[in-house]
Amino acid sequence: MKKSLAISLLLMGALGAASAQAIDTKARFMAANCAYCHGPEGKSRGAIPSLAGLEKGYFVEQMKAFRDGSRPGTVMQKHAMGYTDAEFDALGAWFAVIK
Ligand code: HEC
Repeated sequence: MKKSLAISLLLMGALGAASAQAIDTKARFMAANCAYCHGPEGKSRGAIPSLAGLEKGYFVEQMKAFRDGSRPGTVMQKHAMGYTDAEFDALGAWFAVIK
């Protein structure tokens, strides 16, 4: 009984908010790669700029500029290399809503 309840809850979760949540979870995992320098949830406590609350369009533009080399950086070029445009979008949406 308990088991089937758990299974149906799992199924509901999988069918329900699946797509929105999958994007969120993926963005959250990707964002964790940035926390070491940009702080937990993109809230920096040091000299490195915060990512939390950055406007999405600005964020995506900067990431593309790092990736194609038009914005010089110390370490960001290497980090920007590993992501697709869609992943920049997801990351940008993720950081933009953090207050
Ligand atoms: C090793 C440290 C480090 C990591 C990890 C790192 N960054 Fe950065 N980031 C920097 C530094 C330092 C700068 C300032 C520019 C430069 O020197 O490259 C920067 C700048 C930025 C900027 C520009 C901010 C602005 O206000 O213009 C963005 C956007 C950014 N990083 C996003 C990310 C994302 C997204 C990740 C994870 C995928 C990430 N960074 C991972 C160190 C890091």
